[in-house]
Amino acid sequence: MDLRVYKDKQEVAEQFSNYFAEKVNKAETFHVALSGGSTPKIVFDVLAQNFSEKIAWKNIHFYWGDERCVPPTDEQSNYKMTVEHLFSKIAVPQENIHRILGENDPNREALRYANLLEINLDRVEDVPQFDLVILGMGDDGHTASIFPHEIELWNAQDHCVVATHPDTGQKRVSINGKVINMAKEVAFLVTGSSKAEKVKAISEKTEGFEAYPASLVNPKSGNLIWFLDEKAAFGLSKN
Ligand code: 6PG
Repeated sequence: MDLRVYKDKQEVAEQFSNYFAEKVNKAETFHVALSGGSTPKIVFDVLAQNFSEKIAWKNIHFYWGDERCVPPTDEQSNYKMTVEHLFSKIAVPQENIHRILGENDPNREALRYANLLEINLDRVEDVPQFDLVILGMGDDGHTASIFPHEIELWNAQDHCVVATHPDTGQKRVSINGKVINMAKEVAFLVTGSSKAEKVKAISEKTEGFEAYPASLVNPKSGNLIWFLDEKAAFGLSKN
């Protein structure tokens, strides 16, 4: 595991943005799956502010690893957050934005989106391959929208699944574990002290760590980077 620890959320966002810019500027076409959550929001602000002229946005195709089943105008929508913090501030062609339609029937949308990924992306062993999947981790160890109580969705047959938030019952559409682990690169953005216990459990493989979906992220390419702030990395043994 490549663990990179930075002072705070802001520094995580800045370092991730540098890494992202370098990667995408080397590619002719780059397919990335975005994440919701509080750290990506700051990343989008940094990208919009510091990289709007420094990244070839027209070469990037944007997808989502997961979306809440709400309309795109809803405060809960990951798409809305991305428009507000990034897309409204950069020159990205509309046809490069491939959102999960949260307003649609979840089961049908999961099928539609899986189909779209299968058409738009190269496939390896029949699994759509992203250049980069960006992930967060919830306090309970969930990632994308694969929660501990539905961990079996990780290996679901369909490349996109319908998940249910354990507390609110909100439906989500999420890519499954096969798609995550087929990505050329996977980057976790994890900040804050509420994540420290799970980060330690996963990185040190302490008892019960397999119950956390985030622990199943293990791309075949071997390219997995955790961008952490000091709070999330608290308690990790340094070696
Ligand atoms: C979502 C997510 C989710 C998120 C984590 C971490 O839409 O809810 O994609 O997996 O990344 O909950 O969120 P924070 O960055 O806010 O801790």
